[in-house]
Amino acid sequence: MNISETNMEWAEKYRPMSLSEIVGNKKPVNDLTTWAKEWQQGVPNRKAVILHGKPGIGKTTAAHALARDFDWEVIELNASDQRTATAIRRVAGIASETASFVGGTRLIILDEADNIHGNSDRGGAQALVKIIKETSQPILLTANDLYGVSPSIKNLCVEMPFRSLQGRSIAQLLRKICNNEEITCDPEALMKIAETAHGDVRSAINDLQAVAQGKHELHRNDVVVSSRDSRDTIFDVLKKIFKGKNIKEALNATYGIDETPDDLIQWIDENLPAQYRGDDVAGAMHALSRADIFLGRVHLRQNYRMWRYAGAMMTSGVTVSKSREHHGARFVPPSKWRMLRSTRTSRQVRDRISEKIGVQCQTSQRYARLNLLPVVKMLSADRDYAVRLASWTNLDTTEIAYVISSNKTTKKVKTIYQDAQDLVEDVAPEEVAIFGGFESRAKITQEKPEKKDKPGKPVKSMEPMEPKKPAKEQNTKPEKKSQTSLFDF
Ligand SMILES: Nc1ncnc2c1ncn2[C@@H]1O[C@H](COP(=O)(O)OP(=O)(O)OP(=O)(O)O)[C@@H](O)[C@H]1O
Ligand SMILES: [Mg+2]
Repeated sequence: MNISETNMEWAEKYRPMSLSEIVGNKKPVNDLTTWAKEWQQGVPNRKAVILHGKPGIGKTTAAHALARDFDWEVIELNASDQRTATAIRRVAGIASETASFVGGTRLIILDEADNIHGNSDRGGAQALVKIIKETSQPILLTANDLYGVSPSIKNLCVEMPFRSLQGRSIAQLLRKICNNEEITCDPEALMKIAETAHGDVRSAINDLQAVAQGKHELHRNDVVVSSRDSRDTIFDVLKKIFKGKNIKEALNATYGIDETPDDLIQWIDENLPAQYRGDDVAGAMHALSRADIFLGRVHLRQNYRMWRYAGAMMTSGVTVSKSREHHGARFVPPSKWRMLRSTRTSRQVRDRISEKIGVQCQTSQRYARLNLLPVVKMLSADRDYAVRLASWTNLDTTEIAYVISSNKTTKKVKTIYQDAQDLVEDVAPEEVAIFGGFESRAKITQEKPEKKDKPGKPVKSMEPMEPKKPAKEQNTKPEKKSQTSLFDF
C-alpha cells in the first residue's frame, strides 16, 4: 500500500469496482445489468435510467461499476457543473450523438438529477429531455428524491429505486474493511456504528475510519459515535403518520426533516383525502384544523411554542384518527406548490415591478406590492399613465404587459415601451422628477429654455410644477401635463 492509499478516505478506498461487489440492492443491480445487455443489442426503447434513493447507498458507485463491468467509457456531469441548458448540451449532447473514439459505448452519468431545475438551471431540464429522446448512448441519472426530478425527465427513464441498507449488511462490510486494515474489532462495536448510520454506508465507513484508523484493536467502548439523525424524507414521515400506529414515532419523525410545520401541514392536508376513508377523514381533518389554528397563533403572536401543539395535532392527531387500515394512494406534493411553481414567473415579474415602485415611492417592496401595485394596475388602463409609469420606473416589456394585464408580445405593449423610452431620452436623468422631485423641478424650470434646441420633437418631458400657471395660460392639454408622482393623474 502506498502513502496516498494510507491517507485515503476509506469510503473511496473501498468503493466497489464491480456491480458484483455492491452490498444489497440486488434488484436494481440486476435491472442495471439487464439494461446494459439490451444496449449490447442496439439502442433500446428506454434509453435512460434513474437510480434514486437516500445518500450513501451506492447509486453513483453502481453507475461507475456498471461502466467498468461492460467496458464502457464514462462521460460525467456532476453537481459542480453548471446545470444550464448550454452545459448539458455541450457535455451530454455531443457525447450522446457520437460513439466513443474507439467505437464503443459511452455511459453518460448525470448525478443529482433532482437538482437540475431551479433558477440557475433554467432550460437544463428541457435540454436533457431532448438529449434523452435523441441519444444513441446510454444515459444514467441519480437522484436522492424522485419528487425533485422534473416529470418530463422522469417519464423518459426506467426508475430503479435503491434502498437503505440493513445494519447487519453494513456491519459485515465494516468487518471486511477492518480485516483489510488489520484491525481486530468487537462485532458489537461494528454493529453500533452500522446502526447509527441508518442505512447510509458512506456515513458508516466514515464513522469507522474516525474511530479505528491507526488502531490495532477496536472495542465497544471506543465507539461513541453521536447518534446521527435518521435521514427520513417527507415520504417516510407521511408513511409514519398515515400508516403507522405509534403517535410518538409519527411526531418524532418530523424532527429529522427540513420541512417547517407550515409546509408539513400542506403535505398532510393534500394527501389526507386519498389516504383515509369515511369518518376517519373527518376526524383527521378536525385534528388538522386544530393544528392550523395553532399555526395561526404562531404567526399572529410570534409565539413559537405553539409549534409544538401544531406539530402534535397534525402528526399524532392524524395518526390516532385512523380507526382501521386504509390502502392509500401514492403521496403527492401539495397542489398549491405546483400552482405556485407554474405561476413563479408571473410572481417574479410582479415582485420586480413592486420593487421598482417601492424605490420610487420610498416604501418597501411588500408595501408597494400590497397597496400600490393594485392601484397602479388600475390606473394603467389609461395608456398615457402607463407610458409615464413605464418611463419613471424603467419597466421592460414583460413588466409593462403585467401592469396593463396584457400579453408580452402585443403591439400595444411595444408602443408603450417605445414611448416610455422616448420620454426618458427627452429628459436628462437628473431631470426626472420622482415622487416629488422638488430639486429636479427647480432645475427644469431654470433649464427649460435650453430644451428648445430639440426641433420638432413633442415635449413629453416633465414640466415644472411651480410656479403653477392656470391651465388656460399653459397652453398644454391636461393629459400632456407631466406627472410628478405615481398618483398624480
Ligand atoms: N451498496 C454499497 N456497497 C458497498 N459500498 C457502498 C455501498 N453504498 C455505498 N457504499 C460506500 O459508500 C460510498 C459512497 O457511495 P455512493 O457514492 O455510491 O453513494 P450515493 O448513493 O451515490 O450517495 P449520494 O446520493 O450522496 O450521491 C462508496 O464509495 C462506498 O465506499
Ligand atoms: Mg452519488
